[in-house]
Amino acid sequence: MPATILVGTQWGDEGKGKFTDLVAKETTMVVRYQGGHNAGHTLVVDGETFALRLIPSGVLYDHVTVVIGNGVVVDPEVLFAELDALGRRGVDVGPDRLKVAGSAHLILPYHQLLDRLTERRLGRNKLGTTKNGIGPAYADKAARVGIRIQDLLDPKIFRAKLDLVLKERNQVLTRVFNQLPLDADELADRYLGDFAARLEPHIADTVELVHEALERGEHVLFEGAQATLLDLDHGTYPYVTSSNPVAGGACVGAGVGPRYIDRVVGVAKAYVTRVGAGPFPTELAISDDAIGGKDRAGASAEEVAAGDHIVDVGREYGVNTKRRRRPGWFDAVLLRHAVRLNSLSELAVTKLDVLGGLPTVRICVAYRVDGRERTHPPYHQSDLHRAEPVYVDLPGWDADISSCTEPSQLPAEARAVLDTVEEACGVDVTLVGVGPGRDQFLHRKA
Ligand code: IMP
Repeated sequence: MPATILVGTQWGDEGKGKFTDLVAKETTMVVRYQGGHNAGHTLVVDGETFALRLIPSGVLYDHVTVVIGNGVVVDPEVLFAELDALGRRGVDVGPDRLKVAGSAHLILPYHQLLDRLTERRLGRNKLGTTKNGIGPAYADKAARVGIRIQDLLDPKIFRAKLDLVLKERNQVLTRVFNQLPLDADELADRYLGDFAARLEPHIADTVELVHEALERGEHVLFEGAQATLLDLDHGTYPYVTSSNPVAGGACVGAGVGPRYIDRVVGVAKAYVTRVGAGPFPTELAISDDAIGGKDRAGASAEEVAAGDHIVDVGREYGVNTKRRRRPGWFDAVLLRHAVRLNSLSELAVTKLDVLGGLPTVRICVAYRVDGRERTHPPYHQSDLHRAEPVYVDLPGWDADISSCTEPSQLPAEARAVLDTVEEACGVDVTLVGVGPGRDQFLHRKA
């Protein structure tokens, strides 16, 4: 019963899709365990780009059943749009291939509206959310006024829950935000009509499906969205998402105990990016504006050139939001923390090719806070805001590494970067991405 969790170790956008896809090939089931359509996985297959937000990456393999677990929040409209887009490209995702947990929660229009309005009201203090209603949907779940997928199958219950929650949400919309109230009849018609009819054949007891697969000895992959530093409990709160992307979240969000998990693959970019606001010790200034980005004043020309190089060569723009991401050097201090939080058994490093052409590659191995060097992140976030990175500087390389298939084909400088990452983080780097294509990677260790 091999079970693997694949988790992002930084602030998301590590290129997890590529390695999820690689591991998924060996499995029969891929399960998303948290988040919603705030995620954006890009897969490049035979030169064609697929952008997935809700549907697990394994969907491109006919032999894989993809599961949206109980820990996910689902906007049916987004799910259908994704199914339609895949269908137009000849990827058939019928009810036998996509299962959706009856106990997953719905994202409703008031969640999206409140997400947008709250961000607008926060002004300079906004979190930079994806405005997809993720936070408000999870808040309702925790407050026990959420509406679940299974409620779509019982119109009376759906309507009773909707009336209860909408009464209060409409007060907030009208009185706090000066908006028009939402109409319960219109919402109920839409959700209980076409949405319920189309979703019904996909709705299942996914906990049972996962356990049956594990009991048959099949390989199940639990696919995390977002990443460790965006975790509600362990990330840079409040600049986090509202779910638990860490490996432990897979147990809750899919309904399995930790004893089933025998491999935890962490995915890290060879540098770091983040979207939205929040602390980022190794951040580089760029010549453009990004939400919460570093002030250019005082940054050296070399720093801005390195930041621009990472954003431009790495195409660091949001899959959904198209926002320019904030770039920075690889941070082994935060990675060590991610190794612990997720019990990582190995690390997959993506986008090593992006560093090609930089004169120097920097890796942060410690922080200096108030004159004291530390190798683990400070628990107090004010200290993280003030942390000065301590870097190891390594020489860069110019050669194009995008067709390397063996570690020995990499320039010595690129190998040195991987060795330094491995040593600084205390975990084996087993896989390395050298380009966007499905096949552009190499195995570093067995
Ligand atoms: P939310 O998840 O939309 O509530 O956004 C909360 C924070 O998480 C914001 O800083 C987002 O930019 C960030 N975030 C959410 N999903 C992703 C993702 O898939 N990649 C990177 N950042 C994300």
